[in-house]
Amino acid sequence: MKNIQVNTTFTVYQSVDELPIDVKELMYKAIEVRKNAYAPYSKFRVGSALLLDNEKIVLGSNQENAAYPSGLCAERVAIFQSGAVYPDAKILKMVISAASDVNKTVTPIPPCGSCRQSIFEYEFKQNAPIEIYFMGESGEVYKSDSIKNLLPLSFDKNFL
Ligand code: THU
Repeated sequence: MKNIQVNTTFTVYQSVDELPIDVKELMYKAIEVRKNAYAPYSKFRVGSALLLDNEKIVLGSNQENAAYPSGLCAERVAIFQSGAVYPDAKILKMVISAASDVNKTVTPIPPCGSCRQSIFEYEFKQNAPIEIYFMGESGEVYKSDSIKNLLPLSFDKNFL
Protein backbone atom coordinates (compact mmCIF):
# COMPACT_ATOMS: atom_id res chain seq x y z
CA MET A 1 0.00 0.00 0.00
CA LYS A 2 0.98 3.63 -0.24
CA ASN A 3 -0.30 6.99 0.90
CA ILE A 4 -1.22 9.89 -1.31
CA GLN A 5 -0.70 13.30 0.21
CA VAL A 6 -2.86 16.18 -0.97
CA ASN A 7 -1.46 19.66 -0.36
CA THR A 8 -3.83 22.59 -0.17
CA THR A 9 -2.88 26.24 0.15
CA PHE A 10 -5.16 29.16 0.89
CA THR A 11 -4.22 32.80 1.13
CA VAL A 12 -5.76 34.50 4.16
CA TYR A 13 -6.63 38.20 4.07
CA GLN A 14 -7.31 39.78 7.47
CA SER A 15 -10.43 41.51 6.22
CA VAL A 16 -12.15 42.74 3.08
CA ASP A 17 -10.04 45.91 3.34
CA GLU A 18 -6.86 43.94 2.62
CA LEU A 19 -8.16 42.56 -0.70
CA PRO A 20 -6.89 43.84 -4.07
CA ILE A 21 -9.15 46.70 -5.18
CA ASP A 22 -10.94 44.78 -7.98
CA VAL A 23 -11.72 41.87 -5.63
CA LYS A 24 -12.85 44.24 -2.89
CA GLU A 25 -15.34 45.84 -5.29
CA LEU A 26 -16.54 42.39 -6.35
CA MET A 27 -16.96 41.40 -2.69
CA TYR A 28 -19.04 44.54 -2.02
CA LYS A 29 -21.33 43.46 -4.87
CA ALA A 30 -21.67 39.99 -3.31
CA ILE A 31 -22.49 41.60 0.05
CA GLU A 32 -25.12 43.78 -1.63
CA VAL A 33 -26.77 40.93 -3.57
CA ARG A 34 -26.71 38.77 -0.43
CA LYS A 35 -29.51 41.02 0.81
CA ASN A 36 -31.69 39.67 -2.03
CA ALA A 37 -31.37 36.11 -0.77
CA TYR A 38 -34.74 34.41 -0.39
CA ALA A 39 -33.96 32.57 2.83
CA PRO A 40 -37.11 32.46 4.99
CA TYR A 41 -36.27 28.94 6.23
CA SER A 42 -32.57 29.00 7.10
CA LYS A 43 -32.29 32.77 7.65
CA PHE A 44 -28.80 32.27 6.20
CA ARG A 45 -28.02 34.62 3.34
CA VAL A 46 -25.29 34.04 0.81
CA GLY A 47 -24.21 36.32 -2.03
CA SER A 48 -21.83 35.53 -4.85
CA ALA A 49 -20.29 37.64 -7.61
CA LEU A 50 -18.36 36.44 -10.65
CA LEU A 51 -15.95 38.42 -12.79
CA LEU A 52 -15.83 37.15 -16.39
CA ASP A 53 -13.13 37.66 -19.00
CA ASN A 54 -15.58 39.79 -21.03
CA GLU A 55 -15.58 42.19 -18.03
CA LYS A 56 -19.18 41.34 -17.11
CA ILE A 57 -20.11 40.74 -13.50
CA VAL A 58 -22.69 38.06 -12.72
CA LEU A 59 -24.43 37.90 -9.34
CA GLY A 60 -26.33 35.29 -7.36
CA SER A 61 -27.98 34.85 -3.98
CA ASN A 62 -29.47 31.73 -2.41
CA GLN A 63 -33.09 31.00 -3.25
CA GLU A 64 -34.95 28.65 -0.90
CA ASN A 65 -38.15 26.66 -1.27
CA ALA A 66 -40.76 25.20 1.07
CA ALA A 67 -39.78 21.89 -0.54
CA TYR A 68 -36.23 22.28 0.78
CA PRO A 69 -34.18 20.47 -1.92
CA SER A 70 -35.79 22.63 -4.61
CA GLY A 71 -33.84 25.67 -3.41
CA LEU A 72 -30.42 26.62 -4.75
CA CYS A 73 -27.21 28.04 -3.31
CA ALA A 74 -25.94 31.48 -4.27
CA GLU A 75 -22.84 30.11 -5.99
CA ARG A 76 -24.83 27.90 -8.33
CA VAL A 77 -27.39 30.63 -9.06
CA ALA A 78 -24.44 32.80 -10.17
CA ILE A 79 -22.44 30.19 -12.03
CA PHE A 80 -25.45 28.75 -13.90
CA GLN A 81 -26.56 32.26 -14.82
CA SER A 82 -23.11 32.94 -16.20
CA GLY A 83 -23.26 29.75 -18.29
CA ALA A 84 -26.76 30.62 -19.50
CA VAL A 85 -26.07 34.23 -20.48
CA TYR A 86 -22.36 34.19 -21.43
CA PRO A 87 -21.65 30.58 -22.43
CA ASP A 88 -18.32 31.41 -24.11
CA ALA A 89 -16.89 33.68 -21.42
CA LYS A 90 -14.34 32.43 -18.92
CA ILE A 91 -14.94 32.98 -15.23
CA LEU A 92 -11.85 34.63 -13.73
CA LYS A 93 -12.91 35.20 -10.13
CA MET A 94 -15.70 34.13 -7.81
CA VAL A 95 -16.37 35.79 -4.46
CA ILE A 96 -18.74 34.61 -1.75
CA SER A 97 -20.11 36.36 1.32
CA ALA A 98 -22.45 34.72 3.87
CA ALA A 99 -24.36 36.10 6.86
CA SER A 100 -27.02 34.74 9.20
CA ASP A 101 -30.04 36.78 10.29
CA VAL A 102 -29.77 35.18 13.75
CA ASN A 103 -26.08 35.26 14.65
CA LYS A 104 -22.91 36.94 13.45
CA THR A 105 -20.75 34.89 11.10
CA VAL A 106 -17.11 35.94 11.46
CA THR A 107 -15.38 32.89 9.98
CA PRO A 108 -14.99 32.37 6.22
CA ILE A 109 -17.90 30.34 4.81
CA PRO A 110 -16.71 27.96 2.08
CA PRO A 111 -18.94 26.72 -0.76
CA CYS A 112 -20.89 23.50 -0.07
CA GLY A 113 -19.98 20.22 -1.74
CA SER A 114 -22.56 20.49 -4.53
CA CYS A 115 -21.37 24.00 -5.37
CA ARG A 116 -17.75 22.80 -5.41
CA GLN A 117 -18.68 20.14 -7.97
CA SER A 118 -20.54 22.73 -10.09
CA ILE A 119 -17.66 25.21 -9.92
CA PHE A 120 -15.29 22.39 -10.86
CA GLU A 121 -17.39 21.60 -13.95
CA TYR A 122 -16.98 25.16 -15.23
CA GLU A 123 -13.28 25.29 -14.41
CA PHE A 124 -12.85 22.06 -16.36
CA LYS A 125 -14.99 23.37 -19.25
CA GLN A 126 -13.01 26.60 -19.60
CA ASN A 127 -9.68 24.89 -18.97
CA ALA A 128 -8.53 27.74 -16.76
CA PRO A 129 -8.61 28.16 -13.00
CA ILE A 130 -11.18 30.25 -11.17
CA GLU A 131 -9.90 32.27 -8.20
CA ILE A 132 -12.30 31.83 -5.28
CA TYR A 133 -12.56 34.23 -2.32
CA PHE A 134 -14.93 33.52 0.56
CA MET A 135 -15.83 35.18 3.83
CA GLY A 136 -18.55 35.40 6.47
CA GLU A 137 -20.29 38.61 7.41
CA SER A 138 -16.95 40.09 8.50
CA GLY A 139 -13.45 38.93 9.40
CA GLU A 140 -10.93 36.98 7.36
CA VAL A 141 -11.26 36.27 3.66
CA TYR A 142 -9.82 33.01 2.31
CA LYS A 143 -8.58 32.82 -1.25
CA SER A 144 -8.05 29.66 -3.28
CA ASP A 145 -6.30 29.84 -6.67
CA SER A 146 -8.54 27.13 -8.05
CA ILE A 147 -11.50 24.95 -7.04
CA LYS A 148 -8.98 22.06 -7.03
CA ASN A 149 -7.86 23.08 -3.53
CA LEU A 150 -11.42 22.68 -2.30
CA LEU A 151 -12.22 19.53 -4.26
CA PRO A 152 -9.23 17.20 -4.57
CA LEU A 153 -9.70 13.89 -6.37
CA SER A 154 -12.53 15.45 -8.32
CA PHE A 155 -14.91 13.71 -10.69
CA ASP A 156 -14.96 14.92 -14.29
CA LYS A 157 -16.29 13.85 -17.67
CA ASN A 158 -13.18 11.80 -18.48
CA PHE A 159 -14.50 9.14 -16.09
CA LEU A 160 -17.70 8.70 -18.08
N1 THU B 1 -26.00 28.06 0.94
C1 THU B 1 -25.43 28.72 -0.10
O1 THU B 1 -26.07 29.58 -0.75
N2 THU B 1 -24.16 28.40 -0.43
C2 THU B 1 -23.41 27.46 0.19
O2 THU B 1 -22.34 27.13 -0.28
C3 THU B 1 -23.89 26.88 1.44
C4 THU B 1 -25.32 27.06 1.72
C5 THU B 1 -27.39 28.36 1.28
C6 THU B 1 -28.34 27.23 0.99
C7 THU B 1 -29.46 27.52 1.96
O3 THU B 1 -30.35 28.45 1.34
C8 THU B 1 -28.77 28.21 3.13
O4 THU B 1 -27.51 28.64 2.64
C9 THU B 1 -28.56 27.30 4.33
O5 THU B 1 -27.93 26.12 3.98
